[in-house]
This record gives sequence, structure tokens and C-alpha cells, in this order.
Amino acid sequence: MNIHDLLKSSLTRLTPYIEKNHLEAYRIYNNTDRTLPLAIDIYQNNAVIHIFAPISEGMAKEIEQSLKSLLGIQDFFYKNRTKKEIQIPKSSPQKEITVKEYGHSFSINLSDYLDTGLFLDHRETRKWIASKSLNKTILNTFAYTGSFTIYAACAGAAKTYSVDLSKTYCEWIKKNLALNNLPPEKNWTYKMDTLEFFKYAKRKNFTFDIIIIDPPTFSKNKGKNFSVQKDHPDLINGALDLLNPRGLIMFSNNFRDFLMETRRLQPCSINKEISMIPPDFNGIPPHHCFIIKKQ
Ligand SMILES: C[S@@+](CC[C@H](N)C(=O)[O-])C[C@H]1O[C@@H](n2cnc3c(N)ncnc32)[C@H](O)[C@@H]1O
Repeated sequence: MNIHDLLKSSLTRLTPYIEKNHLEAYRIYNNTDRTLPLAIDIYQNNAVIHIFAPISEGMAKEIEQSLKSLLGIQDFFYKNRTKKEIQIPKSSPQKEITVKEYGHSFSINLSDYLDTGLFLDHRETRKWIASKSLNKTILNTFAYTGSFTIYAACAGAAKTYSVDLSKTYCEWIKKNLALNNLPPEKNWTYKMDTLEFFKYAKRKNFTFDIIIIDPPTFSKNKGKNFSVQKDHPDLINGALDLLNPRGLIMFSNNFRDFLMETRRLQPCSINKEISMIPPDFNGIPPHHCFIIKKQ
């Protein structure tokens, strides 16, 4: 199949889902076919093209032409997802936009970072968290730009706490809160390490109804190396200590070979959740998601 037919058939499959949900941000191609070592995300009339292996200028032109004719795409942003220095096609100039997802607004930066500010594979998980959030106290750790927080707060959460190590992302969370008219007095942002926040919350006798833990596979803080495989029992046990008796933890990560070390966890029930993977992320599951409760 040529590139245009490939993208067209993917779009045909997804159109009912995109139209029914009025989605402005979705994945049109998910690296599922060896013809194209790419994933392509659409944000309104912009395309973000993730490159997993070098592609020729000719192929890039063909993709751009096809996306222009199928969807009226105007700007193209290429992201090098290989771990090597490779030549990638030239991106459009710096651009920030606001997109809507299920009625929520998010500030998206198409040009300046590898990630845009919204992880599309958790679209349905966010909606599910919203459905549980009315009058609840929510803790969103590794919050990034606060997308889970925004859904919870818009759905009537009593209070939200968003924790992220990065100053840039804490500012981005505040921007997204403001975009959705959510008051900072009920929606706090903490620039902190998650495990440090757990200690702080324990000292303050904070407890939570919903705790979201969606960490990176690896990260570094003050010379310490975090790895989700090694450190997830500390994270989950720390969260269980702060969880109200009927509360829940949503724990997710993107480490392909992840194994939950149940023997290192306090008594709890763990359910692996696959029903919230959206249809634009077909193929290899994009994340491992678990719902954890106290026992
Ligand atoms: C994979 S992103 C999280 C995505 C987010 N849950 C979402 O759905 O939008 C990882 C985030 O964790 C933050 N981070 C990394 N190490 C951290 C730590 N030790 N404590 C708190 N945040 C951390 C990073 O700054 C980044 O924003």
C-alpha cells in the first residue's frame, strides 16, 4: 500500500470515533506497519510526526502532501524518537495552540519539546478519572501539564493537588488551570519530588480519594536515578498510606517490559486495565495501567 492509501485507510477507520467525540487531537498513524516507521498525531490543522527510523526527504514530502489533501494540514513538526542523532525533515516555525478534548482546554506546544503537553494515549483514562471525581480529593503525581487534574477539577473534585519536579511543567499546569477557569485556591501545584511530597502529605495528615501515578520510565533528581521498575513498590506503598479507605490509585507507565512486583506491596487489590486504550493507539499497548485499591 502506498503512503496516501495507508493514511487514508487509517483515517477511515478512526473517523467515526473522532467525529463522535469532536476530537481535535488524535493519532492518525501508530507505527503499526513496517512501511512507515512513524507515528503521526494531529492537533487541529497541525501534524506532529514522530520518527522511529530515518526517512527520506521524498517520503516526508509524500506524507505532507497526503496529510494536506486528507485533512487540510498546514504545519508539520518532526520529532526524533530514535536515541541517535539523525537527520530529520525541517519543521514549521515555533507554534503554540490551544486544543479541546472532551470540552477541556489544553495549551499545546508543537515545536519546542519532544512532547507537546498532552499524552493522547490516556484520553479515555482522563475521562474515566473525571467520572469518579465529583466531591473527591485528588492527588496527581508526576503531573506534567496537569491533564488528569483538569479533568478531575472540571468534573467537580473538591480539591486537587498536582505534583511535578519541573518548574516549567508546574507553570504549564497553572496555565491549563487558568484556561479552564479553575481557581488556584482549590487546585494546588507543588514543584516537588513525588516521594518527598508523600512524606510532606503524611506530616500534614493529608489523605486522598484518588491518587494518580503516571511516572516516566527513568528520571534523575539530585543525583538519584529513578526507575519505574525498581521504584514502583515505594510509590504504590507510599500512595496506599495516603489513600482513604474506599479510594483508588491509577498507576500507569510506559515501560514495555514492566512487571508489577506484588510481593513488595502492602495488601491491596490490583486490576490491570486495558479497556481505556483508545482506538487510535491500536497495536502494541501504549502503556500498562492498573487500578489499585486497599484491601
Ligand atoms: C510521563 S510524564 C507524566 C505524564 C502525565 N501523568 C500526564 O498524563 O500528562 C512524567 C513527568 O514526571 C515528572 N517527574 C519526573 N521525575 C519526577 C519526580 N521524581 N517527582 C515528580 N515528578 C517527576 C516530569 O517532570 C514529567 O512532567
